[in-house]
Amino acid sequence: MLDFIFTFNCALAWIVGLYTFIHTMCMITRCLIRNYLRQQLDLAQRYGSDSWVVVTGATGGLGQQYCSQLAKCGFNIAMLGRDKLKLQEAEKALQTQYSKVKTKVVLADLGKNMDADFYQHICEQVSGLDISILVNNAAWTDLYSFECIALQDNLSRARLNMGAPALLCNLLINKLMSRTHRSAIINVSSVGQTCPSPYTGDYSGSKRFLTLLSLHLHDNYSSKIDIQDLQPGYVTTNIARNYKGADAITAERCVKSSLRDLGQEVSTIPVMVHSFMAQFMHFVSRFSMPLYKATVVKGCEKFALENFKKDYQSR
Ligand SMILES: NC(=O)c1ccc[n+]([C@@H]2O[C@H](COP(=O)([O-])OP(=O)(O)OC[C@H]3O[C@@H](n4cnc5c(N)ncnc54)[C@H](OP(=O)(O)O)[C@@H]3O)[C@@H](O)[C@H]2O)c1
Repeated sequence: MLDFIFTFNCALAWIVGLYTFIHTMCMITRCLIRNYLRQQLDLAQRYGSDSWVVVTGATGGLGQQYCSQLAKCGFNIAMLGRDKLKLQEAEKALQTQYSKVKTKVVLADLGKNMDADFYQHICEQVSGLDISILVNNAAWTDLYSFECIALQDNLSRARLNMGAPALLCNLLINKLMSRTHRSAIINVSSVGQTCPSPYTGDYSGSKRFLTLLSLHLHDNYSSKIDIQDLQPGYVTTNIARNYKGADAITAERCVKSSLRDLGQEVSTIPVMVHSFMAQFMHFVSRFSMPLYKATVVKGCEKFALENFKKDYQSR
């Protein structure tokens, strides 16, 4: 009997070891292919040149980069934001950079409202356009202990981070499905969806929601729509308090990677260092609580205290 248990355990250890080895090798190979061999598809040909892209949160960071890099590919841009002045400035900058681009601004504070009428009104403003790509990019987070978040802030972020992408997909999906060309939806999630990051529990939860929404959309609509679930680590933008550590990349690089993978991979992480970050967070959060606390939790605490000090003090 003891012999049998010993042999069984050995076989099990081999199987688990082999599975882990193959899984890791596949992940590394995918990472290498994505980062060093993959070429961007001809997006204008795939989705229709002179068609329109709708970008939420178009006034800064990744959103502004999506506008500019997609305008460069030959798309027209509908820019959605909550600040009229910032939107006008971003539109002007885009037109200066690409004189042929057609633009439209849509003013909407996605954190303030989640009524059907509010979304109908947004969609009416873009209903006459041949929309080929929807970029659900706008989001916000603060690093606070959960109990310190004001109810209104929590509600506003839930509307913005989860409500807006879900409802915009919902309202535009039939339009995207009925085009002759293929269409695309890019949902900007985060490496933070991998595990419950301390101080941003609701944010990582909202990003997991977005990742699962993307996988669902891919399962159901991939015959006509390319779905991308983009999971960046740190990008040097406002939301990350312009963090510039060795593991941070620029918004330009992040969006370049996103467009390189569009139509070729569903869940994608922009750069190698972010892929390793994701694997590490996934592994320690599931298999080693002490290591998770000593690394991820401590790291987040340090980041919160260094970068959000002013916010903490002003509360
Ligand atoms: N930066 C990172 O380290 C990082 C990492 C992982 C994932 N991400 C994700 O990347 C996406 C883009 O963020 P980012 O890095 O580019 O940050 P960002 O520079 O702060 O840009 C956020 C954009 O969202 C807009 N926005 C915020 N609240 C809004 C509201 N209530 N209604 C409409 N628009 C609103 C902002 O508009 P205003 O200009 O008016 O504020 C801004 O244009 C987000 O989904 C974020 O979660 C970022």
